[in-house]
Amino acid sequence: MEFSFPDQPVAAISGGLGDIGLATARLLQQAGCRVAIGDAQSADEGRMSAEGNHYHTVDVRDERSIELWFDAIRTHFGRSATIIVANAGVVRPGTGLETPCADWNETLAVNLTGAWLTARVGAKRLISEGSTGSIVFTGSWAGHAPHVNLVAYCTAKAGLRMVTQCLAAELADKGILVNEVAPGYVDAGLSAEMFRRDPGLAERARRSVPVGKLIGAVEVAEAIAYLCHPRHQNLTGATLVLDGGLSLLRAPKTGP
Ligand SMILES: NC(=O)c1ccc[n+]([C@@H]2O[C@H](COP(=O)([O-])OP(=O)(O)OC[C@H]3O[C@@H](n4cnc5c(N)ncnc54)[C@H](O)[C@@H]3O)[C@@H](O)[C@H]2O)c1
Repeated sequence: MEFSFPDQPVAAISGGLGDIGLATARLLQQAGCRVAIGDAQSADEGRMSAEGNHYHTVDVRDERSIELWFDAIRTHFGRSATIIVANAGVVRPGTGLETPCADWNETLAVNLTGAWLTARVGAKRLISEGSTGSIVFTGSWAGHAPHVNLVAYCTAKAGLRMVTQCLAAELADKGILVNEVAPGYVDAGLSAEMFRRDPGLAERARRSVPVGKLIGAVEVAEAIAYLCHPRHQNLTGATLVLDGGLSLLRAPKTGP
């Protein structure tokens, strides 16, 4: 899919060194955006992986850390990010009865609170500068279908869907559009890590998808680019479920 973003907007991507984040950075950069990557790695390590894009260390669990990242973006580009992709994520598998509290807290802190904080730091700057913009959250089909062994992740991503809708309603009259992509099994990043631990899992996952395919990180990046493209001025509060039909079925009790 061809995308072109006029006026070289600045796009900030949290978790931008991960597989989906980096695919999004590449696509937005090719499409004319100036890209700022924020991730948890140190500045030196991060810059080496950021492929020439602006890099800043950020911990999305900490609002002050996000503010410092956005300050650095403003200083570097001379303007604030008008595209904000809140994408950082972690997964800690575990059932409702067995998940340690620390795993629950970490999963919610990064995937839900961290995404909300990233969006609000970015949105407040846009409002204070009188700019419009676009926020995209990376959710998950897991927020749409209960999984016995992913209670914290499912809960965080389900919450993110509501954050998307609440912020979309709150920010619509300010010209800030808020949407979410909810991928299914992506053959990259967090899923690929689980696929590596269990060699049969990728194939079982693929067979459980109604369309019979795993998703590439680039396809998720294209969905993100679609959601934040300035052509789509009436698209807000939406979730683009990109899961090959997975969420149309009940997740099996034990996963794929
Ligand atoms: N891979 C999949 O199958 C899949 C499916 C649905 C949704 N997602 C979502 O896509 C997003 C990207 O995940 P991915 O699959 O590319 O995984 P990934 O592990 O490759 O990328 C996640 C990135 O987030 C960063 N991160 C983690 N904690 C952070 C923190 N506190 N502050 C800043 N950065 C932090 C990591 O360093 C990493 O670079 C996540 O939100 C994930 O939940 C992934």
